[in-house]
Amino acid sequence: MNSYLKHDEWCIIEEEFVPENTRASESIFSIGNGAMGQRANFEEKYSGSTLQGSYIGGVYYPDKTRVGWWKNGYPEYFAKVINSTNWIGINVFINGDELDLFTCKVENFRRVLNMKEGYLERSFICEMKNGVKLAVKSVRFLSMVDTEIGAIRYSVKPLNSNAKVEFKPYLDADVRNEDSNYGEKFWTVVDVKGSNAFSYIISHTKKLDFYVGHAMCSIVTKNGKVEEINPLVSSTSMYVDNSFASEVKAGEEIVITKYAAVISNLNHEKDTFPGVLQKLIDGAVKKGFDKLFAEQKEAWAEIWNHSDITIDGDVAAQQGIRFNIFQLSQTYTGKDERLNIGPKGFTGEKYGGSTYWDTEAYCLPFYMVTHGQKVARQLLLYRYKQLGKAIENAQKLGYKDGAALYPMVTMNGEECHNEWEITFEEIHRNGAIAFAIYNYVRYTGDKNYLVNYGLEVLIGIARFWAQRVNFSEKKGKYVMLGVTGPNEYENNVNNNWYTSKIACWCMEYADEVALYVKSTDAAQFGQLVKKVNFKEQDEIKHWREIRNNMFFPVDEKQNIFLQQEGYLDKEQILVKDLASSERPLNQKWSWDRILRSCFIKQADVLQGLYFLEDRFDTETIRRNYEFYEARTVHESSLSPCVHSVLASRIGNVDKAYELYLRTARLDLDDYNNEVKEGLHITSMAGTWISIVEGFGGMRIRNNMLNFNPLISNKWKSYSFKVWFRESVLKVVVSNADVIIHNEKGEKISIRVYGNEHSIDAGKTLKISVQNQQFS
Ligand code: BGC
Repeated sequence: MNSYLKHDEWCIIEEEFVPENTRASESIFSIGNGAMGQRANFEEKYSGSTLQGSYIGGVYYPDKTRVGWWKNGYPEYFAKVINSTNWIGINVFINGDELDLFTCKVENFRRVLNMKEGYLERSFICEMKNGVKLAVKSVRFLSMVDTEIGAIRYSVKPLNSNAKVEFKPYLDADVRNEDSNYGEKFWTVVDVKGSNAFSYIISHTKKLDFYVGHAMCSIVTKNGKVEEINPLVSSTSMYVDNSFASEVKAGEEIVITKYAAVISNLNHEKDTFPGVLQKLIDGAVKKGFDKLFAEQKEAWAEIWNHSDITIDGDVAAQQGIRFNIFQLSQTYTGKDERLNIGPKGFTGEKYGGSTYWDTEAYCLPFYMVTHGQKVARQLLLYRYKQLGKAIENAQKLGYKDGAALYPMVTMNGEECHNEWEITFEEIHRNGAIAFAIYNYVRYTGDKNYLVNYGLEVLIGIARFWAQRVNFSEKKGKYVMLGVTGPNEYENNVNNNWYTSKIACWCMEYADEVALYVKSTDAAQFGQLVKKVNFKEQDEIKHWREIRNNMFFPVDEKQNIFLQQEGYLDKEQILVKDLASSERPLNQKWSWDRILRSCFIKQADVLQGLYFLEDRFDTETIRRNYEFYEARTVHESSLSPCVHSVLASRIGNVDKAYELYLRTARLDLDDYNNEVKEGLHITSMAGTWISIVEGFGGMRIRNNMLNFNPLISNKWKSYSFKVWFRESVLKVVVSNADVIIHNEKGEKISIRVYGNEHSIDAGKTLKISVQNQQFS
């Protein structure tokens, strides 16, 4: 852990310049706008350790696979989100010497991520080697309104003497990815144009046909008045800068405002780039920094209006949840159907590819409830459009007849993960994709989705499972051999309970949806039968036969589901008996030792109990929870949240709170010592789930919203909003009451603690908090 950030309800604040924390802070203070993102690299030169990161949604590179031992079926490449042209750079020279915090004496350093209004601010006082003392301040944001625009305001005030201040705003396309497999650069530059008013660079990825264009224009003011400086221009084949120099008196402030435009050929024809860039820059300059900034604040006010969660009485918890909501909202807005949510979002290179099962299993609920049905549908359609590729992926592994295996990691539907135990074996991902369809339809009531898109995906997935199992003569049951469950600290196991359970559930749901579509829209059903060659009777019969005869490992003595056959042969040690010096295991132990131990990386059996909760009684959930949580090291960011929800479910509020804090502050307090690589964006949605489904006990049952609120004794109250179909409800839970306000929409019927209530539009329901069983 490394907790150096100040607790604050709306801001993330760093108050000391510690070079060892620079990379971590670059991740934590990242900004984005759904279309692009930027690590919190300094504008001016920094010669200390840094990970430059400027990313554009949907622009990636197929980096040739690098493995020691090639296995048939491996993908040819790993798709990487690529570091692109540095547009934030403003080098600063004072009396000819370059400002570089790594070589200065720094005081009063303060970096603030203002989550309420969506911008990054930094200020410091420094003494340069040449003796000049400066006060420096910068503000920057990526516009949520004009999503191709970024703006920076950077000011310098010499404090102890007059000084010649020179700003060199630049664009630099000579950038690389640290995680490049062969040390290659991914970009070539197609065009560089430098002028005193408007400069641009157009670059092209060496593979695939991505073109990106970056442009800049800067304006300098002194003491509030525009400095009429005609900047010098210099450029090389991958770089362009302007130079603005001015004599500044001690105590005077000189300010540069840099406007940048960032585009790609996902949205513009490459031949039109110069004109588009010019227009974008002209528009931004005309609007001006202040107007752009005001719009930014308004846009964020609107986002918070429907997504904020308040926690009264616990600043650390409050900051944690807002940080998570902020990062999720600036990573994915649902405006572009081609984009998705990468595990690191726009904050780092690791996990290169964009889409994992994380999206369906963790992120969907957050976007569905706070950003609305359309955004959630967009996420589902993304997978629908990749069904063809999922069928190809399965074919490459030897499956046939339309069986679909969605990839573990992907950009365009093709698998690009290449560790055999995950690529070929971590197939439970298919289950999450089917579950997301169910979850979406259950929440929105949009059954049309099943008719037009959902069933086709479900058939492909059910077909895969039906081919993946085999009948064991010995057991007289169907078995699923050689899989990796969500707990990646076990590989190649037989009969992983979760994978087999979700597989059977998928076949059951596909069966149910097929019957539904056939009975509501026979014509559409007929077309689909033809399109996918669905042998309805035979296939459904086969799915039923498997479901009814599937083998599930259990331990009868302890009355628990077994993670996999043989799990209890392992030496059983509890996490509480592990020395803290041994953790995290994945940094301290050999892989051999991890695989043979009983320790669990993340929810596995419990993932199944979370998804399919309605099928299990509270005592079953409690027994399994208590057994498995005690053996779980939570070394995946996706782990604490599911456990927190289940802890709430069985009424263990203290444990729910402990795990909530861990998920909410995972990055802020760097629990797993890896935040420097980027943030854990997808698990942030799990933090939201911990509050809304965990403490708030929100469920959809029989087409109706249910709440079973609990509250931690660390909190005075908490509140969240739920956008359910036509209604927006605000739920406030305190030690005494649950107050539900019907903010928008018609009269709505809901259940609280199992009792039905209706709330008229604009009215409020108030009932006492009950300390009773989940109902
Ligand atoms: C987890 C996976 C997850 C991936 C990306 C891994 O550490 O075990 O479940 O999909 O990270 O977040």
